[in-house]
Amino acid sequence: MTPKPTVLQNLPADLDETRLPKHVAVIMDGNGRWAKRQGLPRIMGHRRGVDALKELLRCCKDWGIPALTAYAFSTENWGRPLDEVDFLMTLFDRVLRQELREMVQENVKINFMGNLGALPRSLQAEIERSMTETQHNRSIQFTVAMNYGGREEILQACRAIATSVQQGLLQPDQIDEALFEKHLYTSNVGDPDLLIRTSGEMRVSNFLLWQMAYAELYITETLWPDFDRTEFHRALCVYQQRDRRFGKV
Ligand code: IPE
Ligand code: IPE
Ligand code: MG
Repeated sequence: MTPKPTVLQNLPADLDETRLPKHVAVIMDGNGRWAKRQGLPRIMGHRRGVDALKELLRCCKDWGIPALTAYAFSTENWGRPLDEVDFLMTLFDRVLRQELREMVQENVKINFMGNLGALPRSLQAEIERSMTETQHNRSIQFTVAMNYGGREEILQACRAIATSVQQGLLQPDQIDEALFEKHLYTSNVGDPDLLIRTSGEMRVSNFLLWQMAYAELYITETLWPDFDRTEFHRALCVYQQRDRRFGKV
C-alpha cells in the first residue's frame, strides 16, 4: 500500500499539488568533491551528505510526495579505499541508531534494498530493527539502496524465477513484466517518476536499471551536500514542465 501524506506544509505556490511525482529517486553524488572544495577530507562530505538527505526526506514528507528512494552505497563502491568504505559503514550504522526515534515519531516507513546480507553484521541488525519498528508507518515510504546494484537486482530476480520454473511452479510463458517486478526490490514501491542525480554526472551508475524505463531524469551540477529545499523545488518545477508521453503522442 502506498503511504498517504497527511497535511501539506508550505508547498511552494508555483508547484501544482496534483502533478507532483509520487516516487522520487536520488543518486546522491558529489560528497567527495564537495569536501575537496572546502579543503576537507572526503568523509566530511559524506557527513554533510546525511544532512542533505534528512532535509530532502522532510521536504518530500511536507510536500506530500509519498515515496523517496536514495542511493547510498552501490555494489561497485566496495572498490573504494578500505578506510572510506569502513567510514561509510560506520556512518550508516550510527545514523540509523540516531535517527530511528525521529523516523518513528515522524511516521516514516523505512526500507532498505540491495544485497543486505553482505553488509557488516551490526549494520544488518540496525537495518532489521529500523524496518521492523517503522513497518506500520504511513507518512512516507523511504527506501535506502545499500549494497545495491541494478544488475545484481535483475540477476537475483532471474534466479528466483528460474527456481520456480525448475520446481514446476511456473511456466516460462507466465513470465511477464508484472511477475518480474514482483521479484525486484521495488515490488512494494514501483518505478520512480523522477530520478535526480547531483554533481553533474550524465550516467546512471547501475541504479534502478529496470525501474527507470520512463523516469524523468533531472541532473544538476550541484554537489549532494549542497542539495537543499530550494534545489529540490527547482527540480520539481522542471519535472512539472515535462510532457510525459510514455511512447504515445
Ligand atoms: C556519493 O559521493 C556518495 C557515495 C557514493 C557513497 P561520492 O563519494 O561519490 O563523491 P564524489 O563523486 O567522489 O565527489
Ligand atoms: C553512485 O555514485 C553511487 C551512489 C551515489 C551511492 P558513484 O560516485 O559511485 O558513481 P560513479 O563512480 O561516478 O559512476
Ligand atoms: Mg561519486
